[in-house]
Amino acid sequence: MEQRSKWGTNLGFLLAAIGSAVGLGNIWRFPYVAYENGGGAFLIPYFVALLTAGIPILMLEFALGHHREASAPKAFRHIDPKWEWLGWWAVLFVLFGISMYYIVIIGWCGNYMLFSLTNAWGDDPNAFFFTKFLQVPFDQAEQAPAGDQVWSLAGFRWPIAIAVSLIWLVNWAIAYGGVEKGIERAVKVMMPILFLITVTIIAWALTLEGAGKGIRHYVTPDFDKITDLKVWIAAYGQIFFSLSLGFGIMIAYSSYLSRNANIFKNSLIVGFSNSFYEVCAGFGVFSILGYMATRQNCDINEVVSDGIGLAFVAYPKAISILPGGRAFGFLFFLLLIIAGISSTISIIEAFTAAVLDKFSLSRKKVITTICVLGFLGSLLFTTNVGLLWLDIVDHFLNQYGLITVGIVEALVVGWLYRTDLLKAHIVANLGLSGTRHKLFNYVVLQLWMYCIRFVTPVALGIAIVHSLIREFATPYAGYPISGVIVLGVGWLLVTHIFAFGLSGLPWREQAEG
Ligand code: TRP
Repeated sequence: MEQRSKWGTNLGFLLAAIGSAVGLGNIWRFPYVAYENGGGAFLIPYFVALLTAGIPILMLEFALGHHREASAPKAFRHIDPKWEWLGWWAVLFVLFGISMYYIVIIGWCGNYMLFSLTNAWGDDPNAFFFTKFLQVPFDQAEQAPAGDQVWSLAGFRWPIAIAVSLIWLVNWAIAYGGVEKGIERAVKVMMPILFLITVTIIAWALTLEGAGKGIRHYVTPDFDKITDLKVWIAAYGQIFFSLSLGFGIMIAYSSYLSRNANIFKNSLIVGFSNSFYEVCAGFGVFSILGYMATRQNCDINEVVSDGIGLAFVAYPKAISILPGGRAFGFLFFLLLIIAGISSTISIIEAFTAAVLDKFSLSRKKVITTICVLGFLGSLLFTTNVGLLWLDIVDHFLNQYGLITVGIVEALVVGWLYRTDLLKAHIVANLGLSGTRHKLFNYVVLQLWMYCIRFVTPVALGIAIVHSLIREFATPYAGYPISGVIVLGVGWLLVTHIFAFGLSGLPWREQAEG
């Protein structure tokens, strides 16, 4: 039997966990969510969400994985065999769902990194992206993809499929090396580069004409919004996705820590670093938007966007008019690629850890099989209608899958587990004594449990009910109902069936520990 892997150092673990958390969501999602939901005032619900759900759940996942030295299915099985499926479901739908299309987006970034060098999009990046690059059915009147043509399949987009195969190859090469020799080594190179590029891009953006105007829009607080329920839901949702919670990743990563690791401190470092990164990224993003608005003599509202629209339509416009834009574009897309790969590698590991905990198989074979299957799955999103499929799957897995895992996880651990064991485990490595020990036990850990038992399930529960109500009022974003059911609901159900299947298989000897 192979020995369980370990990180070489705590720093290696931190870099990997931060690498998992910092992803596309930090760069292209947070700034927009903040802007839409009250600008500077959004920081209030956002930090409340970080402190009452983000860091508590992160600490719970770290403590659970570390205490049991187990991946998600094994850790949940320990609480009660009935819940093993939850661990499988999380790692299944993230790997064979979220990562499959997330890698396709990284593949677009690969193409755009090269396009930047020649400004390949010319003067209409919108048309270029949708009709030339993706070749997705396009609604001329709306100047946007036509959602009702979700089944009009016309073939693969080869430049995308090729990029996707390369990105899977990189993921495979990193994971194949193992935890210490593969992932830890890779993040020790990738994370400093990520940091340097980020600093360069932000510093560059801040010097642009109009940067101040953009930043004012980003930070100007609109306190009226704080009383709006939607703003709070957005804050909890952003924290959850951005910190990679409910993916089973943090459980696996912390299970590789040395026995005397400080779980409390590690949770604070990872939680705050991720938020610090996204708040800073917002300054870069809005400086560029301010520059564009100034150059085009229009209002920020007209240039602002998020996600795909920001990276593949708004930014290319900026890259075309910016002095040194080509280098800027190259760096920006490289940044997205690095941030993306350090996230996808983490879910490959979370799934691998789960399989190796349960079955006696060779790590290398498991990694190769996962990467081949994942690559084949990614191809589904590299056709001309890939964008539409990706959009539907993403909506369902994020709004329902992740949030469900978060709620059930908080309830199962908070109410069914011997949380005194978990608390004692955290305290044991802190080296506190006397009053400080008491204070930590009775105040910090008490508050922590309160957040896990009440605040997180209630906050996430409200979010999911809110999404469901909207879903029934109008099918998601005007897609035909067949698309929503097959790709959205279907995906949730099929991964569920696999999760039950995997949890029904027998454990190898001595693995149940
Ligand atoms: N936290 C990442 C972000 O902000 C998302 C993410 C984490 C992810 N782990 C992942 C996406 C694994 C795909 C696969 O973007």
